[in-house]
Amino acid sequence: MKIVYLNSSGQIGGAESVLLDLFAALREAEPDWPLRLIVPAAGPLAGRALSLGVETEVLEFPPPLARLGEFAARRGTSRAALAGRLLASVPDAVRYVRRLRRVLKREKPDVIHSNGLKMHALGSWAWGRGAPAVWHFHDYVGTRPLMARLLRASAHGCGAAVANSRSVAADVSAALGSHTDVRIIYNAVDLEKFSPSGPRADLDALAGLAPAGHGTVRVGLVATLARWKGHETFLRALALVPRELNVRAYVVGGALYQTDGSQHNLEDLRRTARALGIGDRVGFTGYVEDTQSVMRALDVVVHASTEPEPFGLVIAEAMACARAVVVSAAGGAVEIVRAEADALVHAPGYAEELARCITRLAADSSLRAALGRSAHATASARFDHTRLAAEWAPVYRGLARGTGERTADEGGVKTLEDEAATAGASTPSEAYGSR
Ligand code: GLC
Repeated sequence: MKIVYLNSSGQIGGAESVLLDLFAALREAEPDWPLRLIVPAAGPLAGRALSLGVETEVLEFPPPLARLGEFAARRGTSRAALAGRLLASVPDAVRYVRRLRRVLKREKPDVIHSNGLKMHALGSWAWGRGAPAVWHFHDYVGTRPLMARLLRASAHGCGAAVANSRSVAADVSAALGSHTDVRIIYNAVDLEKFSPSGPRADLDALAGLAPAGHGTVRVGLVATLARWKGHETFLRALALVPRELNVRAYVVGGALYQTDGSQHNLEDLRRTARALGIGDRVGFTGYVEDTQSVMRALDVVVHASTEPEPFGLVIAEAMACARAVVVSAAGGAVEIVRAEADALVHAPGYAEELARCITRLAADSSLRAALGRSAHATASARFDHTRLAAEWAPVYRGLARGTGERTADEGGVKTLEDEAATAGASTPSEAYGSR
């Protein structure tokens, strides 16, 4: 089975980490399947894919098309502005589709797996009607009406759709039209990499702080600097945590795009921390590649997204490292934790609630340990990346046979229970027993 993957970016974000985990799983389970990856820009993804034995080709996006992806990915972008950009990039898109068509004709894939909204559309127009293509959704579409319309206009090339959570699946199904069946394949992580034992980052050194004293409770937000990741909520919450609890906080991460109003910059966040009177209790490390060593150095990992999180890979990674996690309870994120058993949860954007969670955890090391143990067990059962091969292979085989994923009695979103019935042992619902 020859699979060509189309990714919308050359960088490694959440969607790309998942893709790399899928490559690793398939290499192991199906070593004879030739896997090819097409990326729109040189960058770290190409190198990592190559090292996993996936032949990678850079088919460069012309700059207006590249910027469109970045622009469309921003939440809160005005419809008129996006429409203008879309129109302006049509000639480039047409040229790109022709180039992509030539590459696909040469490669003759049995299946195309597109990873990213822009590539769903471009891939469909390149390949045409009846493509053996699966669209893999990592994000909501309903909040991007123009993109949703573009995808509906490209739906002739969608042979199957897969979403990273039930929440995203429901959104995609509604945005694309109810005739679209959306299967759920939860993300997974490399449990050898994200494990409780291993090197720990020196967060104080990374943040340029003096070493913290014994008994300090380290609490961190690990995320890109996108505004919706909740850095301000995190800082406001920290200001409400009693000083005597000896909490030191860390903001770990950097900006993904250079010129983007939807992102914080570290200087602004530092200023906010000072204004809140917690400048001495927060460190800013900037981007750290080795996030597993960061997780292990933290006592509490906070997820604070102020909008529904499609999945929240960082939550799964922290759980795999047996950390105590606090989760912003909306979107796919609520599907991957059991509140009070493997994480504490707070309502998105509510600093007071988040502060209460952090305070409880800072004051109670045995609660931290219990949550960490339970999170680790859940992560081992649900997020082992080796299951990805078993869950994706039937999707690919169905497409290659020309039957896609659809059967007469299916319709709409497949539930966790459907997943359990079809996917066997390590399914989410089974890991959750009666849930
Ligand atoms: C996107 C989503 C994130 C998810 C990741 C991997 O980045 O925003 O929630 O974890 O994709 O699917």
